[in-house]
Amino acid sequence: MTTTDTAATGRAFIDNDALMLRARHVSKRFTLHAQGGASIVALTGVSLDVERGECIVLAGPSGAGKSTFLRCLYGNYRATGGAIAIRDDTRAERHVRIDGAEPHDVIALRRSVVGYVSQFLRVIPRVPALTLVAEPLVSRGVDELDARERAAALLARLNVPRRLWELAPATFSGGEQQRVNIARGLIAGHPLLLLDEPTASLDAHNRDIVAELIEEARQRGAAIVGIFHDEATRANVATRRLELSAPAAALQTH
Ligand SMILES: Nc1ncnc2c1ncn2[C@@H]1O[C@H](COP(=O)(O)OP(=O)(O)OP(=O)(O)O)[C@@H](O)[C@H]1O
Ligand SMILES: [Mg+2]
Repeated sequence: MTTTDTAATGRAFIDNDALMLRARHVSKRFTLHAQGGASIVALTGVSLDVERGECIVLAGPSGAGKSTFLRCLYGNYRATGGAIAIRDDTRAERHVRIDGAEPHDVIALRRSVVGYVSQFLRVIPRVPALTLVAEPLVSRGVDELDARERAAALLARLNVPRRLWELAPATFSGGEQQRVNIARGLIAGHPLLLLDEPTASLDAHNRDIVAELIEEARQRGAAIVGIFHDEATRANVATRRLELSAPAAALQTH
């Protein structure tokens, strides 16, 4: 990161209460050690500011780096260039650099600030759907009975059949698992939400319900960055779009 990047981020989160995320010139290159050290450039120089109440839709062709960018924002992938700052009001500077953060800072930030919904549910064996969905609330200190009530309401809203609530999702259909995943991602009201194709396995009716839930989160002031595979949902939820294009000469051997 350059001195200009530091200066740009320095007071930004103090001066602007609405700013939740600032990404500057983010790039990501994967080195394939198992394949002769070939490297893949997945992102070059992506910049984005996201404020409360905004829903930014990432668009662009398959392979353009949309999921990679989202994973860099969540701290799953470490950006190889640029800077990513996320609001953290527990700090004097009101932000933390996720691209250089220590694991315990990343974990703390995920508990209270950043929520992430991927396309697939990571199924934990033997844990019932209702418990899975209630868990992010319980871990934030909400009383267990309250948490389970709110989880039940959300599962009902997403049309997950009541007979499934006390079962582990391993045997659920793809769409049922996806709805459990969405409920788990949205229940805690994180102020920054990252959504990677959360509706890909859903029918049109349930897709619309998810779009409504996203809209409600936005109205409550959440900042959202999302990837959606269908144009109807994109048009439904976006307040702004960020177009990514596949970097030229993405595969480099050296
Ligand atoms: N873990 C990884 N290791 C190596 N290369 C990766 C890795 N993750 C992503 N890539 C590469 O980065 C590029 C961008 O992939 P990414 O999944 O971000 O695209 P995308 O825009 O989300 O595409 P899609 O719309 O198909 O989901 C691809 O060329 C992909 O092969
Ligand atoms: Mg993707």
